[in-house]
Amino acid sequence: MQASDIVSLHNVHHAFLPNKPILQELDLKIQKGDSLTILGPGGSGKSTLLKVILGIIKPQSGTVQVLGKTINNLKDHEKSELFKKMGMAFQQGALFDFMTVKENILFAMENMTQFSKFEQEDKVKQFLSQVLLAHAADKIPSELSGGMRRRVGFIRALITNPELALLDEPTAGLDPVTTTIVIDMIHNIGRSIGTTMVSVTSNIDVAFRFADNVAILKDGRIVGKGTKEELLSLNDPWITNFLTIRKHNFDIS
Ligand SMILES: Nc1ncnc2c1ncn2[C@@H]1O[C@H](COP(=O)(O)OP(=O)(O)OP(=O)(O)O)[C@@H](O)[C@H]1O
Ligand SMILES: [Mg+2]
Repeated sequence: MQASDIVSLHNVHHAFLPNKPILQELDLKIQKGDSLTILGPGGSGKSTLLKVILGIIKPQSGTVQVLGKTINNLKDHEKSELFKKMGMAFQQGALFDFMTVKENILFAMENMTQFSKFEQEDKVKQFLSQVLLAHAADKIPSELSGGMRRRVGFIRALITNPELALLDEPTAGLDPVTTTIVIDMIHNIGRSIGTTMVSVTSNIDVAFRFADNVAILKDGRIVGKGTKEELLSLNDPWITNFLTIRKHNFDIS
């Protein structure tokens, strides 16, 4: 692991069922300040990979280093210290239904004790207005559209100024116009707080709009990483097919 690597995975292997590996021989390095998208078909293990980086899934073998720590053998309190430096927007949103939007975000800020309650609320207002949701602070999640809930999820992941932000399928289920707006909003916030951002998606257009640097996950391995041109120049038939043919015919597990 080099000093500038914020994430370094080496030879990671994980299976939920015997003889059905989801991640295998997986190597991935992410440098500080990078914005990287992991692109792969449905069921290829993208969410599992993010949970491995976050430390909530312990892989069966391999080395996982995040923010300078080898997380395989961290004690619980060391893990929770590391956790505080990361922000995660889960695929399913994972907002508390019984809390308002504001309360959901304040909940994520409970460790930001350097801010008074008043300052925290002010910060929530600022972030919500950046994603055009200032009016929704007192609504509960069931009163929001899917796109609005997602934006709240991003705010909750990013408001703590994490060193590393992990975003699972940031735009799934959104129409193309909302997708573009949401990606631009995330970029603006990410740039303003200077976080390293890793997103995962199965949507090729979203992947390259999100980041210049895209890593392709296939059969549990990263099979290529780079710009679209770099990936195409690998002359790997599967990658070329995946990136250029719109109608896919993949195994979806
Ligand atoms: N907790 C679990 N227990 C058992 N199997 C699981 C678990 N989590 C994921 N899997 C299996 O691992 C495989 C990869 O799942 P994962 O959710 O990581 O894929 P994904 O690439 O994120 O898919 P999608 O594009 O649909 O979000 C799937 O076959 C899934 O059924
Ligand atoms: Mg997923």
